[in-house]
Amino acid sequence: MSSAMGKRLEGKTIVVTGASSGIGRSTAMEFARTSPKNLKLVLAARRIEILKQVAKDIEKEVGDGVKVLPFKLDVSSSEEVRGFVNALPVEFRDIDILVNNAGLVKGLAKAPEIAEEDINIMFATNVTGLINMTQAILPIFKRRDEGGRGDIINIGSVAAREPYAGGSIYCATKTAVRTFTDALRRELVATRIRVIEIDPGQVETSDIMATRRRQMQYMREWSTPNPAQLRPQEMQ
Ligand SMILES: NC(=O)c1ccc[n+]([C@@H]2O[C@H](COP(=O)([O-])OP(=O)(O)OC[C@H]3O[C@@H](n4cnc5c(N)ncnc54)[C@H](OP(=O)(O)O)[C@@H]3O)[C@@H](O)[C@H]2O)c1
Repeated sequence: MSSAMGKRLEGKTIVVTGASSGIGRSTAMEFARTSPKNLKLVLAARRIEILKQVAKDIEKEVGDGVKVLPFKLDVSSSEEVRGFVNALPVEFRDIDILVNNAGLVKGLAKAPEIAEEDINIMFATNVTGLINMTQAILPIFKRRDEGGRGDIINIGSVAAREPYAGGSIYCATKTAVRTFTDALRRELVATRIRVIEIDPGQVETSDIMATRRRQMQYMREWSTPNPAQLRPQEMQ
């Protein structure tokens, strides 16, 4: 990436949810590589030991110019998200960029056999978690000049545009992300708060791919050909 981009990132504080694996981990690594001299990264997920390893991997690759804070957080817990900002050390609280990446797929069932538990966990993580994180961090952005400043990057999916059999709930959660993102962008249009959505196609990551592999049997039912598969480090 260009050094101009690195310069623009210098001194910024970035929160990445779901940073323990896949796209979130790669996103964190890429931010660190782009601005290795002066950056703060808050890496949030439930598996704290893995986050600590990601922090070590970043330090090993780019040195100590990037300060990394591994933070144990379950975005599906409204209570944990509500306490998130105040639980950060003061030097990590002035957040500039939020990457709402945490998300999951559960099950392959078709209606009417979808487990209630799977419906609830997908909505609580992919939708309510993302909305709650946004609401927790937006006041920090809005306190800045000119109506506010900061970037919100929501990870959606092509599944919102091309729903597939056996993925109705996951696809519905990503459609909700898309609609929330579009409405939020309109609400903040007069500010310098940018609201961005990235909709990956298939990316070869852990949990999601394990489910997707099992979904191959449904692929033939998709309305469009399956897009070329990417690896997380190719998500640029
Ligand atoms: N892979 C694809 O083909 C694909 C395509 C389109 C969109 N996406 C989207 O990309 C995002 C990342 O997916 P991925 O493929 O990188 O999957 P992944 O490798 O399974 O990573 C998911 C991440 O989300 C975290 N997470 C899950 N539930 C969480 C919770 N309740 N609280 C906090 N963190 C949680 C996981 O960490 P812990 O388990 O440690 O909490 C993990 O770090 C998701 O939003 C997904 O919907 C993926």
